[in-house]
Amino acid sequence: MTTVEPALRVLIPAERIQARIRELGAQIDRDYPGGPVWLIAILKGACFFLADLSRAMKSSTRIDFIGISSYGKGKTTSGEVKLTKDLDSSIEGADVLVVEDIVDTGVTLNYLMHVLEQRKPRSLRIVALLDKPSRRIRPVDVAYVGFQIPDEFVVGYGLDYAENYRNLSDICVLEEGAKP
Ligand code: IMP
Repeated sequence: MTTVEPALRVLIPAERIQARIRELGAQIDRDYPGGPVWLIAILKGACFFLADLSRAMKSSTRIDFIGISSYGKGKTTSGEVKLTKDLDSSIEGADVLVVEDIVDTGVTLNYLMHVLEQRKPRSLRIVALLDKPSRRIRPVDVAYVGFQIPDEFVVGYGLDYAENYRNLSDICVLEEGAKP
C-alpha cells in the first residue's frame, strides 16, 4: 500500500501565531480595561484561538459558543447560513467580541452580526485571526485582525478541510490535490 503525504506548506508558524495573539490580547485589554468582555467563539474552528486569546488577556473574560452552518461543501460557502447552536447566556448590555478563525467571503459574520445586534449588547465587535480581504462579497467590519493572508485555502490552528488538520500548531496552505 502506498501512502501519499498531504501537501502542506507552512504559511504562519506557531511562534508567529502566538506572538501576534499576545499583541492582540494586549490591544484588547487597553480597549476594554478591566472587562468583563464576552468572548463568543464560532464553532468549531475558533476554539483554539479563543483559548489562546483569552489567556493572553488580563481583563476579565466570559466565554460562550455559537454554531453556524453554511450550506455548501468543500472549500466554499454557498451563501446561505443558519444558527445551529445558540449562546447559553444573554448578551444584553454586555461588551461582546465575536472570535472567528478566518473571514473569507464575509457571509457568516455578516449574518451573525445581524443576529447578535438584535440582542442589544452594549458593544459588539469582531476579532479574527485571519482575513482574506480579496474574497469578500458581504461587508464585515473586523475590529482586530491577526494576519491578512492571500486567497489560498489554509488549515491548522482550528481550521479544517473535511474535519482534518485542526490540531496542527502552524497555519498551513493545503496545496491543490492534497487529500487527508
Ligand atoms: P465566510 O462566511 O466565507 O467568511 O467563511 C467563513 C468560514 O469559512 C470560516 O469560519 C471557515 O470555517 C471557512 N473557511 C474560509 N476560508 C477557509 C480556509 O482557507 N480554510 C478553512 N476554512 C475556511
